[in-house]
Amino acid sequence: MDEIIRFDNVVYSYAAAGESQETMSGPGGGGAAESGRSADGHRQPEPDAGAGGTPALDGVTLSVRRGETVAVLGHNGSGKSTLVRMLNGLLTPLSGTVTVCGIGTGEEDRLLEVRQKVGLVFQNPDNQIVATVVEEDVAFALENLGVPPAEIRERVDAALRDVGMVEYREHAPHRLSGGQKQRVAIAGALAMDPLVLALDEPTAMLDPRGRGEVMETVRRLNRERGVTVVMVTHHMNEAALCGRVVVMDRGRIRLDGTPEDVFLRADELRALGLGVPQTVALARGLGLDAAPLTDEDCARVIFDFVRGGASAGG
Ligand SMILES: Nc1ncnc2c1ncn2[C@@H]1O[C@H](COP(=O)(O)OP(=O)(O)OP(=O)(O)O)[C@@H](O)[C@H]1O
Ligand SMILES: [Mg+2]
Repeated sequence: MDEIIRFDNVVYSYAAAGESQETMSGPGGGGAAESGRSADGHRQPEPDAGAGGTPALDGVTLSVRRGETVAVLGHNGSGKSTLVRMLNGLLTPLSGTVTVCGIGTGEEDRLLEVRQKVGLVFQNPDNQIVATVVEEDVAFALENLGVPPAEIRERVDAALRDVGMVEYREHAPHRLSGGQKQRVAIAGALAMDPLVLALDEPTAMLDPRGRGEVMETVRRLNRERGVTVVMVTHHMNEAALCGRVVVMDRGRIRLDGTPEDVFLRADELRALGLGVPQTVALARGLGLDAAPLTDEDCARVIFDFVRGGASAGG
């Protein structure tokens, strides 16, 4: 069985849980959270004024298989970050269950195992940097865990190699570009040798070049290392690069399928406050029932359309 993550009818409400869980301690969580690694010190969404206790997650059932790349889409406040924080036990369900490789995230004595299997990366790279030298930053969680120095050396080197940042190992993180910082944050997660990388809007604060670097890194880790990826994004073209797209709305999963399936349902997406990739919008604008995801596919669809039109007309 290659199911790696399972949500069963998960309900969560910040109001009902109190926020104490967010500062929960534990490797990769609390110790690091205090110094900023896992705490997503970025803006916390304001509780919905009119939500009247609407749960942040309202019956989420989801299964992720090993090797998948899953994009999580949804308007502000739809529950994406809450879902991501459930993946490694940073938050635990009020009702329902989340399991990672069969381990319930609520099993406190096994939290360490869960945290080791799922690495989290957040939006703001500056909030995730904890050391003044890149390689020390990547080594941070391993040192907290008491991993022997020789093994730390090996794992840090491998992680920096995997994100293409080896030549920056002795640099000061705060002097790197946003995209480079985010790759260092990913290396920090990778050093734990996780099965799953969960990224919450990892490209939101980056320019197009930084976004490209991060997306390329994540996709390569999936392709070459078999790392399962769950990534929250507001960029439709990033979602289009994933194998699967999950769309959330008011704490529920509303659409779940391949990018083609999901982006063909442009009207439903619009009703949920979302758009489609430009390539899909173009095809739709031409009245075509197609969801081309790359420029090449888009060009082909338009070429066929024009050629069809030409032969029909003449
Ligand atoms: N720390 C918190 N305390 C109280 N309520 C919260 C907290 N964090 C989130 N919420 C509420 O939970 C719901 C889901 O929020 P969540 O952060 O998961 O949404 P999101 O989809 O990640 O939004 P965004 O796109 O803005 O990042 C929202 O109604 C939000 O107001
Ligand atoms: Mg969020």
